[in-house]
Amino acid sequence: MRSLSVVSPAKVNLALFVTGRLPDGYHRLVTLFHRISLADQMTLTPQAAGFRLISDCPGLPLGEDNLITRAYRLVQKKIPGVGGVQVRLRKRIPMQAGLGGGSSNAANFLLALKRLYRLPLGRDELIALGGQLGADVPFFLYETPQALGEGRGDEIRPLVLNRKRWFVLVLSSEPLSTPRVYGEWDKHFSQGHFLTKKERVDRIRCLVSGREKSLDWAAKLYNDLEGPACRLCPGVRKTMAMVVQLGAPAVAMSGSGPAVFAVMDGEQEARALKKRLEKFIAPGRIKICRTLG
Ligand code: C5P
Repeated sequence: MRSLSVVSPAKVNLALFVTGRLPDGYHRLVTLFHRISLADQMTLTPQAAGFRLISDCPGLPLGEDNLITRAYRLVQKKIPGVGGVQVRLRKRIPMQAGLGGGSSNAANFLLALKRLYRLPLGRDELIALGGQLGADVPFFLYETPQALGEGRGDEIRPLVLNRKRWFVLVLSSEPLSTPRVYGEWDKHFSQGHFLTKKERVDRIRCLVSGREKSLDWAAKLYNDLEGPACRLCPGVRKTMAMVVQLGAPAVAMSGSGPAVFAVMDGEQEARALKKRLEKFIAPGRIKICRTLG
């Protein structure tokens, strides 16, 4: 049996509203996921038995805590006879950045393992497995460029994509822990001003329609986790201010941060912004990417 190579793309959240707490302690979200071309590469090679994960990323935990390993263990529990596999992961998406890299790896591993061994797992079963691994995993299992996520972010409604966008991502040199960001929201933001349902719907409608000019469209980007993330990591606010000062129409943070993104009119504008940013930020921390349609 041959090896199977797949890409494992990142996402940005064009909008993320925290609307309360769920009984299990998770936060209730309404979020607009958008798949981007920044991607890891994964190669699955069948082996007689057992599981092995290899990566070119120095800090990546490769043991039982890794989401890919956990995904394989869940499949093993459900289908005890599943074949062994070696996974080689070329990591390009930074960890703990708010770009969904680990969740994407878990989801795309499940999809690839299903293909490799023709596993009898339907979409609903995969989503149930993915939901046990993390709130962002189901979005990636839908293999859709754009979707609304509700509940923990794992109740997915795929949405049409009306326009592809160019992005300039600015990565942080420090990771940010998702539970800490939500903890900060609980402490300092849970009593704050929430947008009304109408305001949320209007923003999402506009972001999805893609008809507006970039500037009007970009003004609708929104993330309730920016405040808490900036309390923990003040550099995020500084980076966002710099990106706008250097000419981006608008900037937002993705997920629980600390990665931020500017939306640009085209590739040329994105390259020009990258060049201006490189005077202040290490080139390796600035990535140009596009919607992955
Ligand atoms: O589901 P995931 O493992 O990605 O979530 C990491 C942590 O982020 C959770 O343990 C929880 O503390 C927090 N979280 C949350 N509400 C969400 C998503 C994540 O409180 N909707």
